Amino acid sequence: MGKLVRSSADMWVGPGEAVRSLRQLEAEAERRVTDDVWAYIQGGAGEEATLAANREAFRRWTLMPRALVDVSELDLSTEILGQRVHAPFFVAPTAYQGKVHPDGELATARAAAHEGCLAVFSTLASRSLEEIASGSGAAPRWFQLYLQPDFEISRSLVRRAERAGYGALVVTVDAPVLGVRDRQASAGFAIDASLPVGNGHDVVPPPRAASFQGDRYRLRSEAASTWEILDDLRGVTRLPIVVKGILTADDARRCADHGARAVIVSNHGGRQLDGAPASLDVLPEIVEAVGSRVEVLMDGGVRRARDVLVALAFGARAVGLGRPVLWALAADGEAGVRRYLSLLGSELATCLALVGRPKLGDIDRSLLRPSPRGNDRSP
Ligand SMILES: Cc1cc2nc3c(=O)[nH]c(=O)nc-3n(C[C@H](O)[C@H](O)[C@H](O)COP(=O)(O)O)c2cc1C
Repeated sequence: MGKLVRSSADMWVGPGEAVRSLRQLEAEAERRVTDDVWAYIQGGAGEEATLAANREAFRRWTLMPRALVDVSELDLSTEILGQRVHAPFFVAPTAYQGKVHPDGELATARAAAHEGCLAVFSTLASRSLEEIASGSGAAPRWFQLYLQPDFEISRSLVRRAERAGYGALVVTVDAPVLGVRDRQASAGFAIDASLPVGNGHDVVPPPRAASFQGDRYRLRSEAASTWEILDDLRGVTRLPIVVKGILTADDARRCADHGARAVIVSNHGGRQLDGAPASLDVLPEIVEAVGSRVEVLMDGGVRRARDVLVALAFGARAVGLGRPVLWALAADGEAGVRRYLSLLGSELATCLALVGRPKLGDIDRSLLRPSPRGNDRSP
């Protein structure tokens, strides 16, 4: 992606040349996977209000361009937790990529490494965290931890991630229980031991719904975790801790108080609590509350360069990409993911030029104005 700073002529060179747009990747993905896997990828929780809100939130903002700025050199690179990356977007963790493409996370890891992007890999990846590390080589990668019923297991996963060269621990806190996934369940996609899990079902048992016992609903023991779990994790690792799934300023402050180095403002792509706010809508208050103490990242509904710009203008250091990466993976494996990441990079370069902000440091709230048309699809 380094080539983006040179000229527009070579921007569109890359694998998967036949795929020219994100829409084509999405359509191709739908053709390639079975209906149940498509429902797993696309679905959200409940009536999918939060899933829809993630996209709608971006449409409420317009971009205010500056004219006659020297944009002959564009720089998309940034640092995330001190690590240099080629772009302010990263691959968000998504489970079971082996159901989406036979190469699964290996393809994603290689593609992200090739494009110089940070990638985060799930506890529930289809490949072991060591295999994924070998696929991504020296490229930046983080390990996403789902707390396990037994803390010793969480601790051993963290140790393995350290040894395998992961640069941070992303602790997902919005999933003490699996959300109510109507679409996924109706399509027959079962979250159970039949799914490919590289770290082993004996090590990381599939997430479960609540069970009814006596007069109470009971969850597995990791659901008993409170803020001290962050201190416990800090006690067993030197890796920086990133907390994923934060939607309030209060919780963001608690993350900072308990030593987290970054938060990811996220509602899990609308897959957990239906009715939770769009990530973008709460981003500004979280940046205001903790932006000077921790790095603020976000995900949810980011598809194209203009979405990246809006989130950055609200103070996000970088944004995560969930479903679009899975579309790209389903459509064409490693080549597809490379294609999407490079398309997004070139589109972002184009947008930076068009808004007259040649580097990311030039982006601030002056870029944004509320759309007079609110939530409709324009501009
Ligand atoms: C199919 C799928 C699986 C996911 N699995 C995980 C996971 O294992 N761990 C996690 O922290 N988040 C998981 N997420 C949430 C993503 O990391 C991210 O928060 C979300 O997809 C961002 O929204 P977007 O899909 O609109 O980009 C998953 C999302 C999807 C779509």
